[in-house]
Amino acid sequence: MALWGGRFQGGSSDMFRQVNDSLSFDQIMAAQDIRGSIIWSRAIASTGVLSTDEQQQLEAALNELLVKAEAGELDFAASEEEDIHAFVEAALTEKLGDIGRKLHTGRSRNDQVATDFRLWVREHCEQLLGDLWNVRASLSSVAERFKTVILPGYTHLQRAQPVRFPHWCLAYVEMFKRDISRLEDLIARMNQCPLGSGALAGTVYPVDRQHIAEQLGFISPCLNSLDAVSDRDYVLELLFCASTSMMHLSRMAEDMIFFNSGEAGFIRLGDNVTSGSSLMPQKKNPDALELMRGKCGRVFGSLQALLVTMKGLPLAYNKDMQEDKEGAFDAVNQWHICLSIACEVIDSVQMDAERCAKAAKEGYANATELADYLVAKGIPFRTAHDISGQVVLAALEQKKPIEDLSLQELKQFSSDIEDDVYEVLQLEYLVDKRNVLGGTGISPVTAALQNEISAVEAW
Ligand code: ARG
Repeated sequence: MALWGGRFQGGSSDMFRQVNDSLSFDQIMAAQDIRGSIIWSRAIASTGVLSTDEQQQLEAALNELLVKAEAGELDFAASEEEDIHAFVEAALTEKLGDIGRKLHTGRSRNDQVATDFRLWVREHCEQLLGDLWNVRASLSSVAERFKTVILPGYTHLQRAQPVRFPHWCLAYVEMFKRDISRLEDLIARMNQCPLGSGALAGTVYPVDRQHIAEQLGFISPCLNSLDAVSDRDYVLELLFCASTSMMHLSRMAEDMIFFNSGEAGFIRLGDNVTSGSSLMPQKKNPDALELMRGKCGRVFGSLQALLVTMKGLPLAYNKDMQEDKEGAFDAVNQWHICLSIACEVIDSVQMDAERCAKAAKEGYANATELADYLVAKGIPFRTAHDISGQVVLAALEQKKPIEDLSLQELKQFSSDIEDDVYEVLQLEYLVDKRNVLGGTGISPVTAALQNEISAVEAW
């Protein structure tokens, strides 16, 4: 039965119900709705609207519903109710008759839905924090497994300077650390309770809003009833958090797709996260990574959609706001799925250290080291730069790294080059010279990895 039938003489059209009803998707907030209702029943009982006995009957019935909601046993498909709020009230009324019909005293679906959704968002933020920490754990463990591997670092997708593999892993760790801190900020900022704001102007019953807020795990009540029922900033922020983090996952996926390609061959992905081709038997495609990249579209879309929905809305509640949910539910689900599959992909990684080193060497990143070596022998830098350039040209012609040229060959470019040049041309030498904090040298990378492993263990 509709929650608002009295003023109407005719019923809703089927098409109106299709556009208006939200039970098909807001049923996901059943547990939050029931928990909010338990606290509301206590609040109005304290003002004398319900007797102690009535409140206890309501709370017991709501607890029964909560158990069913959490077990996935509520039969939404068979319900004719408009939304989750109507569904819960109908279930109570069916069980308790008029007592069930008292629960909505002093409350509106406007403060109710705002409370439910905040509870839902907050709980999912907590889960997503766990998901993000799991990705950090997988990244630090793959970094530890392949801590000696050196691979090319890129700018413009051209080999630029070699980096240690853990350094690459820890770059993404920094991004996921920021994603975590953004979610923590969001939790702190949104942790205010709308319940008691009524439809828009506040409730006439003298409920203790601070106490209501605390019982639902909020820090304090929302301070303005008009804002409380019509604020969806917390959903937008959640969608921004999801979008930014999906962008990070997508960039990581893109790097790994390339590392896994036949051309690079730096990593191999597990059979558990790849798929084959129906036509080409030799193929093993990085589908999980491609979907982490591909699903960004719908998540970014949900952020954009809600921004546009909200932008022209006058105060306070408007039904447009019912459109806040499906995109957010989907974005959270996709983000959770992508964070989870990211762990499986990372855990499955095997590395070909030799191919990585070969590719790193072929970039001639040690040409600068050669010039510096000549400078140390007393040659002016400009001349040394020129000599080193000629050496690169000769090595390129032979399709070899500089260090594969013999001493005799090298001496043709400068008689100052001695046997000790080979140490300087080593990949490790070049990488480990970058010893500054945040650099790719062995000592800063080892320290950073150790910090991260401790952080993951402590979490
Ligand atoms: N299903 C609605 C929503 O999600 C609940 C609030 C309805 N309020 C109202 N006054 N019609 O926004």
